[in-house]
Amino acid sequence: MTRYNVAELLNSTNFSQEVNLKGWVRTFRANRFIALNDGSTINTIQCIVDFENTDQCILKRITTGAAISIKGILTESLGKGQNVEIQITEIEILGDSNPEEYPIQPKKHSFEFLRENAHLRIRTNTFSAVMRVRSALSFAVHKYFIKNGFYNFHAPIITGSDAEGAGEMFNVTTLDANNPPRNEAGKIDYSKDFFGKLTNLTVSGQLEAETYAMALGKVYTFGPTFRAENSNTTRHLAEFWMIEPEVAFNNLDDNMDLAEDFIKSVISYTLKNCKDDLAFLDDRLAQEDKLKPALERSEMSLIEKLKFIVDNNFIRVSYTEAIDILKNSTPNKKKKFQYLIEEWGTDLQSEHERFLVEKHFKCPVILYDYPAKIKAFYMRLNDDGKTVRAMDVLFPGIGEIVGGSQREERLDVLQQKMKDLGIDEKELWWYLDTRKFGTAVHSGFGLGFERLVQFTTGMGNIRDVIPYPRTPQNAEF
Ligand code: 4AD
Ligand code: MG
Repeated sequence: MTRYNVAELLNSTNFSQEVNLKGWVRTFRANRFIALNDGSTINTIQCIVDFENTDQCILKRITTGAAISIKGILTESLGKGQNVEIQITEIEILGDSNPEEYPIQPKKHSFEFLRENAHLRIRTNTFSAVMRVRSALSFAVHKYFIKNGFYNFHAPIITGSDAEGAGEMFNVTTLDANNPPRNEAGKIDYSKDFFGKLTNLTVSGQLEAETYAMALGKVYTFGPTFRAENSNTTRHLAEFWMIEPEVAFNNLDDNMDLAEDFIKSVISYTLKNCKDDLAFLDDRLAQEDKLKPALERSEMSLIEKLKFIVDNNFIRVSYTEAIDILKNSTPNKKKKFQYLIEEWGTDLQSEHERFLVEKHFKCPVILYDYPAKIKAFYMRLNDDGKTVRAMDVLFPGIGEIVGGSQREERLDVLQQKMKDLGIDEKELWWYLDTRKFGTAVHSGFGLGFERLVQFTTGMGNIRDVIPYPRTPQNAEF
């Protein structure tokens, strides 16, 4: 007998055939109706127990969370809310689940409680929907780039350079923390360490990706990155996945076009391929929204928001224009911003980014041409000598989702910049080589994958869109 999954059977009209399926009990009602889920879809299939001919001991063991195997006849359902059901002919308990101890009971659990039970939370509707959408987005990312002639580049995770400056790094060492070797000056002697130098977990694969773009033309990374910042926010993780395309001969405008087209493409993929999960998440968000004060409620439903992104152009605004808008904005004049915008050159906080996107433009925004002082050393200096060809994509409810730039391709300008910032050329000799041998205009960006999953699923906290979040003071599981 063929084993089917729930998704297949729910779409089948092949009635009267005998089928086998395995899964976990979600609920068991009236000693008769099992709602069975196997992860293949958010939906459960109703399986009807032949009460008279089933052993009492077996009936007792059909509890929420138990793993079971069922044989039965697929039949058209007369009940509301489902098209098919299974009339069980044989049932086997594969793994019991003691109802007294099983934490995931069929009721509403808080996200805090579920985070403490992250190994079991995937058995709830919300988390299984989020993680199926995450998986679909991941596939859509690879699909987009491969279809558009990019090569997937695996950036190293352990890195010997810390020059990117994107954030605090985690050291990687095998030295004995209690008794490390020391040099004459009393400092830890990393030449005795595993790699013969101090190494870290990477904050970004960009610098290495640039070297590959300068030979393969178009590359992208999609891997874990690490930042040891002590940021306890709903948007920051210490370990997150980043997608970083890098393209030779692309300028900043090409880079903005790529970012916009890429984001639209992957979101559009989920609209087509994750219908049931998105419908569930749309409903979940609507219910959550109802509990909020009227002013904080969202004007659009989740699916409307996703469609809006796909169907509308992102607005492109220079940093200088944005500062003017912010300076003259009501929250700035009424001193409602925590950080008031007083002069050109200040870094934007997420309250400012969200004002621009959610209140002013009501649309995703790409800010470009930032002051050189607040951006990384590798961004291309504009002719004005004070701004660089940087771009950030800002999203409603999220703030910055993408950060990128056209890279400084002129060796002398790059060297001068590094000198000004005290970055040792010896550390980045290989990076500078790309500017010595066949240098060319090139650009790229980084998209935080979890922020994309957050936006697409409407989840409020980034810890709820990655299986096992790593944040300050938290690395359980
Ligand atoms: O803006 P960032 O720091 O840019 C870079 O790392 C560049 N090297 C990218 C490039 O040009 N190739 O980070 C890129 C994106 C951010 O826009 C944000 O979406 C995400 O990564 N991000 C984080 N996501 C979760 N937790 C954190 N701590 C994050 N820090 C950045
Ligand atoms: Mg950034």
